[in-house]
Amino acid sequence: MALRPILIAPDPRLKQKSAPVEGPVTDAHRALMDDMLETMYAAPGIGLAAIQVGEPVRIIVMDLAREGEPPAPRYFVNPQILWASEETQPYEEGCLSVPEIFDEVERPARVKLRYRNYSGDEVEEDAEGLFAVCIQHEMDHLEGVLFLDHLSRLKRESALRKLKKAKKDAAETLQHRL
Ligand code: NI
Repeated sequence: MALRPILIAPDPRLKQKSAPVEGPVTDAHRALMDDMLETMYAAPGIGLAAIQVGEPVRIIVMDLAREGEPPAPRYFVNPQILWASEETQPYEEGCLSVPEIFDEVERPARVKLRYRNYSGDEVEEDAEGLFAVCIQHEMDHLEGVLFLDHLSRLKRESALRKLKKAKKDAAETLQHRL
């Protein structure tokens, strides 16, 4: 397993649409999922899409275990939403590719999913609560969509300004570390 650098917005790679895994889930896909999980735990975060480590493929990892609970890694290959509730719920979202910024996003409260797991088996599952929030957030990444894109233009532009400034400050700090 290896840590991978996480792409930070605004980065054009985060805007691209990820391609499905064609054919079986292979050891190469599992190696990517292992790297993604390790990277997510180290960050730390609760969900990560492959494009966030620069791989434009429809793979997501997640672990919603609370602090003190044993790890509960989950893997989603080619996830699809088969059904979404009309009822929505707001949640204060953040993102490993959008550091330090949190804002409320409203999404369907419950969804029915189909995906392939780590072994490549097809699974159908209902999601609600934080699981529903997280899988919809991560699936947005597969379409090149960030949670910022769900906010008002004013909020999104202010967030992007903050991100650009943080990147510039980080670059200047590096220069000074010569
Ligand atoms: Ni995210």
